[in-house]
Amino acid sequence: MSKKRRLTGLQPSGNLHIGNYFGALKPFVDEYRNYDSILMVVDYHALTSLKDGPQLRAHILSAVRDYLAVGIDPSSLVLFKQSDVLEHTELAWILDCLVTVPFLMQGHAYKDKLAKGLEANAGLFTYPMLMAADILLYDTELVPVGEDQRQHVEYAREAAAKFNLAFGQTFLEPKEQISANVGVVPGTDGLKMSKSYGNTIPLFGNRDETAQAVMSIVTDSAGDVPANVYAIHKLYKTEAELAPLYESNKGKYKALKEALIEDIEAHVAPMREKRASISDDDVKRVLVEGAEKARAIASAKMADVRQKIGVAL
Ligand code: ADP
Ligand code: TRP
Repeated sequence: MSKKRRLTGLQPSGNLHIGNYFGALKPFVDEYRNYDSILMVVDYHALTSLKDGPQLRAHILSAVRDYLAVGIDPSSLVLFKQSDVLEHTELAWILDCLVTVPFLMQGHAYKDKLAKGLEANAGLFTYPMLMAADILLYDTELVPVGEDQRQHVEYAREAAAKFNLAFGQTFLEPKEQISANVGVVPGTDGLKMSKSYGNTIPLFGNRDETAQAVMSIVTDSAGDVPANVYAIHKLYKTEAELAPLYESNKGKYKALKEALIEDIEAHVAPMREKRASISDDDVKRVLVEGAEKARAIASAKMADVRQKIGVAL
């Protein structure tokens, strides 16, 4: 039986934290081989918020290095960056010409920006159609995303339906795949770990950075077990493994934090080593190969699209 095509895109947005790892990367690594997988670094989406060339370049390189370090094997999927396959922006334009302004005005990303009193650029406004193009170009069946991206996948379905209605059956209507059981990883303050809250434990931090973050975990919980430390510790060890440790260190928050630092270190050290061994040239090579594979699919699709809309003579 052929595998289902499953595609997702990740913004290159700087340093990962352990919330990103346990919430997004690890689940992806655990199951991408079960699908015909496509993973894309959506650098043109990042441009809607980041206007700094050297920084965007660094983030792209760093993002791909992260994926390779956590165990993604580029020969087992298509891994590429969006800007390398020009068909994405081309199809986005065509889809822009099919949807209406009021439809795009309902987009969450755009509405949130306006609600904060900020000015949205036109790229942010049409963001959902670039994402629709990302998905539709590859006859994607499943799109694994977080709950916040559900609407964007609905928009991709809507765009596919509009195109199909206007020009005949061309695009598959994709489905979102929202993992229900991915728990929220708490940050050092007990709230959701997020780079915007400054409460993160870096994924690839060195020992000192990890130690500093762990030591800052808030431990004002009543009782013997520091709840915030335990919640993070559970990501690394089973409850059965942790029971004797927490039993013999009742109330000894510092000792428990030190044990957590050791467990984080043991987990990340091999990945950190692998990451350090990956050069910029390695990353570029992977992206060139990935772009070739992606382009082969996308360009065949666009040849059909250009025929249907009438620009191919
Ligand atoms: P941040 O909140 O730090 O900005 P992003 O929004 O860039 O993180 O999230 C990237 C991915 O990591 C998403 O798939 C998101 O669901 C996941 N993720 C981020 N923070 C957490 C967390 N604290 N717990 C679980 N998953 C998370
Ligand atoms: N908008 C998504 C996010 O911010 C990223 C994204 C872009 C994406 N294109 C995609 C996700 C295609 C899935 C499929 O997380």
